[in-house]
This record gives sequence, structure tokens and C-alpha cells, in this order.
Amino acid sequence: MTEKVLVTGGAGFIGSHLVDKLIDQIGYEVSIIDTLEPQVHGNTDHPPDYLNKNAKFYRGSVTDYKKLEDLVGESDVVFHLAAMVGVGQSMYKIKKYIDNNILGLAILFDILVNSNHNVKKVVLASSNTVYGEGKSHCDTCGLVFPELRPSDQLKRKDWEINCPKCGSKVKPLLTDEKSPCNPSSIYAYSKLAQEKIGLMIANTYGIKMAILRFFLVYGTRQALSNPYTGVCSIFSTRALYGKPPIIFEDGKQSRDFMDVKDVCQALVLAMEKNAANGEIFNVGTGLPITIAEVAEIITQKINPNLKPTYDQHYRIGDIRHCVADISKIKNKLGYSPTLSFEEGIDDLINWIKTQKKDIKEPSHKAMQELKEKGLLK
Ligand SMILES: NC(=O)c1ccc[n+]([C@@H]2O[C@H](COP(=O)([O-])OP(=O)(O)OC[C@H]3O[C@@H](n4cnc5c(N)ncnc54)[C@H](O)[C@@H]3O)[C@@H](O)[C@H]2O)c1
Ligand SMILES: [Zn+2]
Repeated sequence: MTEKVLVTGGAGFIGSHLVDKLIDQIGYEVSIIDTLEPQVHGNTDHPPDYLNKNAKFYRGSVTDYKKLEDLVGESDVVFHLAAMVGVGQSMYKIKKYIDNNILGLAILFDILVNSNHNVKKVVLASSNTVYGEGKSHCDTCGLVFPELRPSDQLKRKDWEINCPKCGSKVKPLLTDEKSPCNPSSIYAYSKLAQEKIGLMIANTYGIKMAILRFFLVYGTRQALSNPYTGVCSIFSTRALYGKPPIIFEDGKQSRDFMDVKDVCQALVLAMEKNAANGEIFNVGTGLPITIAEVAEIITQKINPNLKPTYDQHYRIGDIRHCVADISKIKNKLGYSPTLSFEEGIDDLINWIKTQKKDIKEPSHKAMQELKEKGLLK
């Protein structure tokens, strides 16, 4: 029998790629509920052109109990991806992030507990941001989990992390799922709350649930109109307009960037494998890359004459390093990332070139808003 799958947020960047894989590669029936958030999709009544024509699209919010209840009632599997996703923006649109992200998840689980349904699995998209600073090593104290860098340290432009025990500089390690969570934005808190509420109810009622903590994802269909997300799309769009990437701090902060195809691989494994039930998995490449390297690779590919701007600005709440330890998902689910940053990023760049006529020249709107709120220094 064909599985019926509900993808919340399925018109978005990651969701739409997942929908394609579920329909075209696996042959499932897919329904989507998505608000078409204007910040992501522009002002429109219609789902984006890229959306799979064989998916059933419902415009609506996961906070609409009745609408979600009807869709959950027809589904065998639910992928919960609907969310507001701007880390910086969440620090001043607090209610919006709590409403969409936490209330939305609470309603989904209320339905799973109280309504008739045949849902066999729920897969939740969480985020690396739940960790805050990643796991680190101090030559004197060994393994440590540093807090966010204090503001007086950042004011001195002293970027690297100090050991929380002895104060000397630490080296970043790969962060595993057992690392303590230390969210540093409302967005990150909302993702951690989704995890905790979901797991608590799933364990209480025997609902099968898997949680994936995505690190940073890039690929085609990443919102170009949304100035609050996606450093790769921001750098690429700027470069296409002949504008250099603007780099915060000294550019040596490291991250884990992965191709959206690899995220979809992980999502499908989490759905299919019983070993995923009740578990939390990092999804990334396990390979650190600095923001300066990201800027360099992107400008080389689009406009090698551009030199990145280093103006020593920094954002309050930004972490310095966080790269995934992906041993757990490799060992338990057989996940294996297929694309390096250099290989995967070409898809995004080539796609952005085709979109250029529709994208506005990059503005400083997001930076201005952060500045006004005192979050960008
Ligand atoms: N892109 C990344 O790097 C990344 C990293 C970690 C986690 N995630 C998580 O992955 C998921 C998908 O993110 P994305 O990058 O595809 O973002 P996106 O903004 O492209 O997609 C999210 C979709 O959810 C929809 N949406 C928002 N609120 C909704 C609501 N209340 N009801 C229904 N739909 C709603 C939006 O319209 C959008 O289409 C999110 O849960 C996000 O937290 C993304
Ligand atoms: Zn120390």
C-alpha cells in the first residue's frame, strides 16, 4: 500500500526537496501544509512554481488545529518542518517564533494524542543551534563546553573561545548529540522546546518519533527574498550583483555546511529505520569550513575580482564554532554525506543565476534591523 505522508512546511527550501524525493523516487502520496510565509515566498496566494505538481498543497498554518487534524488523520507519516527560521530575527520577533514553532509543535502532538489517526512515525527537523557553542578541548582542563563569548570579550575583538575553567584558549572539537544544549537565541530555544515536548509526549504514548539536528543547509530554492537566513545564498546573491561578501568577526568562525540532497537522505532514513525511533541525530558533513573559506569559494566561482569585506562587526549571540560529529547517524542509520561544499555549492550558484531577474538587489535591511535592536555591533 502506498504510504501517505504529510510534510509541514513542505513548500519551503528543505521541505520541497523532500517532497520531490518522496514522490518521484519513492512513490509516496504527499500532502503539504504551509502558510507561504511572505518573508520566504514573497506576497503570493500560490505555491511556488518549483513545488511538485503531484503533491496536494493546502495553504494553512500548523497552528490551525482543525486543518492540521484533518491532514494528520489521513497520514501514515508526518515530517514536521514548518517553522520560522531566522536566528537573529527571532530575538525581536519573539511571539512570532514561539507561536509558529512551539505552539505549532504542541498542536501537532495534541492531535496525535487526542484524535483518531494511523500515524506510524513523526520526523522532526531540529537544528544545530540548540548546542550553542560546540564541544571544545582545553590543553589543561580537557573536554569543556564553553558558554557564549561575553560581550566585553567581543568588544575587544578577541574572537576565539576561552576555557570556562582556566581561561586559556580552547580548540573546537566535533560536537556529538550527548553535548549539553545551550541555546543562544529564541529560534534555538524554540527548536529545543520542540524536541523536548515532542519526545516527552512520544515516550509517554508510544509514538514513534525521530529528531534530526540539521547543521547548515544550502541548495536550490533557498529563500533569496529572505534576508534573515542562508549565508551561502546571501554571499552568492551579493556576488552576482558585484557586491563583496560582508564578513563578521575575522571570518575564522567554523561551521558545517551540507547539501540539501544529503539532508533529504537523512530525513528518509529517519522515516524508514526503526533504529531512529526515540533518537536524536546530528545531520551534517563532519567537516569544518570557515566563513572566510565559504566567501572565498563562492566569490571565486561567481566573480573572482571581489574581495570580501572584513569590517570587524559582530552579532550578539553568534557562536564561534559548531561542527557535527555524525558518527551516530552513520552507524545507526547508514547515513553517508555524498557532496563536499565545493561540489554541492555549484547547484545553488547556477540556480541563483537563473533567478537573477526576479531577485532584488541585496539590501541592508536585515543588518539595519539588527543594528537598531543593538544586536549587530
Ligand atoms: N536551512 C537550514 O540550514 C536549517 C538548519 C537547521 C534546521 N532547519 C529546519 O528545517 C526546517 C525547514 O527549514 P527551511 O530552511 O526549509 O526553511 P524555509 O523557510 O524555506 O521553510 C519553512 C516553511 O515553513 C512554512 N511555515 C512557517 N511557519 C508555518 C506555520 N506556522 N505553518 C505552516 N507552515 C509554516 C514557511 O512558509 C516555509 O515554506 C525548519 O524547521 C528549520 O528550523 C533548517
Ligand atoms: Zn582550561
